[in-house]
Amino acid sequence: MRRKIIAGNWKMNKLPNEAMEFINSLQERIKDIQCEVVLCVPYTDLFYSLLTAQGTSINIGAQNMHWEESGSYTGEISANMLKCINVNYVIIGHSERRKYFAETDELINKKLITAISHEITPILCIGENLKERALGIQEEIVLKQITIALQGLSKEQVKNVIIAYEPIWAIGTGKVATKEDVNNMLKGIRKQISIMYDENVAQNITLLYGGSVNKDNAKELLNIPDMDGALVGGASLDASEFGKLLNQYSIS
Ligand code: 13P
Repeated sequence: MRRKIIAGNWKMNKLPNEAMEFINSLQERIKDIQCEVVLCVPYTDLFYSLLTAQGTSINIGAQNMHWEESGSYTGEISANMLKCINVNYVIIGHSERRKYFAETDELINKKLITAISHEITPILCIGENLKERALGIQEEIVLKQITIALQGLSKEQVKNVIIAYEPIWAIGTGKVATKEDVNNMLKGIRKQISIMYDENVAQNITLLYGGSVNKDNAKELLNIPDMDGALVGGASLDASEFGKLLNQYSIS
């Protein structure tokens, strides 16, 4: 079953008191929400956010985790650490992690396997940069990222992965991919999943788009048939704006 999800990625923003205030305010604005709502917050906000979101329709996720169970990895957080405080979502392989922390597809694959084995839903980010798009090799790049990232995952396991197509040139730039760009890429991703697994898995995997999504363009984007939701950066930082964006799903 494809899930309808809108996730916010706060990146390195918000202190715990701001997170709590945000969640209380957002909850008031999304009473009739018809999709899963996830806020991926900084580690230091996780516990406060989970407590504040208890009993609401807001889910809390992390933005990264390590692939090993435990050990000498100064500064890192394990899947078990997330799971034991009830974190059930984690972003894996965001382009900013790839760019600033040298994350490779192989490493992302290890993280995915670990997240799945701990029953944490991974939101796998993939996407091409501007140069790759200019060269017309965007599909090749994205399909390679997916092929390596999903290596070793069974059909049952891959059904729990959420894939977010985030073209790097659209992140934080205000340049949204066209409906056609998104549609073509999401179709290409489903085709690749059907080759790697089967048509049933391909039709049931949840695909998101991310890159300059906001309250004004969300409705049109969310109409794309293969798109099951969005991963939102900047526009998820303001409760009023994010609330309006989320309500696009409940307006028929
Ligand atoms: P923006 O919505 O700010 O473009 O960021 C997208 C993103 O990186 C979400 O992970």
